[in-house]
Amino acid sequence: MKALILAGGKGTRLKPITHTIPKQLLPVANKPIMFYVLDQIREAGITDIGIIISPETGAYIREAVGDGSRWDSNITYIPQAEPKGLAHAVKTARPFLGDSTFLMFLGDNLIEGGVKSFVKEFGSHSPDALVLLKEVPDPSLFGVAELNGKGEVVHLVEKPKEPKTNLALVGIYLFTPLIHKAIAKIKPSWRGELEITDAIQKLLDMGKKVRSHILTGWWLDTGKKDDLLEANRVVLDSLLKRDVKGEIDSKSKVVGRVQIEAGAKVENSTVRGPVSIATGCQVRNSFIGPFTSIGAGTVIEDSSIGHSVILENSRIYRIERLEDSLIGTRVELRRADERFNAVKIFVGCDSSLEL
Ligand code: G1P
Repeated sequence: MKALILAGGKGTRLKPITHTIPKQLLPVANKPIMFYVLDQIREAGITDIGIIISPETGAYIREAVGDGSRWDSNITYIPQAEPKGLAHAVKTARPFLGDSTFLMFLGDNLIEGGVKSFVKEFGSHSPDALVLLKEVPDPSLFGVAELNGKGEVVHLVEKPKEPKTNLALVGIYLFTPLIHKAIAKIKPSWRGELEITDAIQKLLDMGKKVRSHILTGWWLDTGKKDDLLEANRVVLDSLLKRDVKGEIDSKSKVVGRVQIEAGAKVENSTVRGPVSIATGCQVRNSFIGPFTSIGAGTVIEDSSIGHSVILENSRIYRIERLEDSLIGTRVELRRADERFNAVKIFVGCDSSLEL
């Protein structure tokens, strides 16, 4: 079996951060989301992995993932000239996929417990496709599945205005090569894309067997700011172990599950876990609250931060309470003067500030 990771697209819903970092490389607990995807694929025993990349961000992905030796895997990069849909991506990957069965994984999706058990389930029941479903409060944002009384998939619709169920299609699928026949039969949707949802529906129309599995654990789809913060919260909460290697002075308190990499410094501050602080960070006279990740080389002084993700080499000075925030690389954020309660910010294009 092969795996196909989709890491193309433009990351429109995460602008401006995605101008310079592909959304699949945004860090969750200081590790790119896609690295968790690769971990989960490797854990399922798959080592022949294709990655769909776009002209805009492909070079970043190639640089970060390299030849795959970190996962003991072979990586084939597959450029997709335009983001014309998930089924179009599969079509583009056909020379790589050949006639193999394959696991398709959207590079910004993650599920609790990994994919090993589903790969096994696919092997033992031999359906033509296996989809994962999850109950969600806002199904109209996703592909939506209808099941019959026996729990079999009978109908799938991409982002319906009036969803018939609350079962969303998770961005992780298992396919036999029959999916290529189905893709050949579909037309672009209203959004101009070849939808994988339509291709799976086509399999159903062809009388093929589509198995489904409803997830009970968490599912993270990190395409938007709040989703990324939520992913950071969930991953810190469920996967982080205490590991303090950085320098902590005697006036500081580091409480709970906190990871501080070697080369980071904490002075006269409180860090209350779960928190991840990467190498080269300097934290002075500050409080770093729960569910926060701080990227390498970032400096924080006289500030208090909670439930946030801050990327590399940023500077935060005298910010009394920074919450629910996603801050890019090399951002400078400082309160100008304590007497005026003013903030001084140097922001790039397409930014969004809530003060
Ligand atoms: C895509 C799929 C959709 C699925 C979702 C999961 O949506 O088209 O069916 O539910 O991924 O993340 P998109 O991210 O292209 O809007």
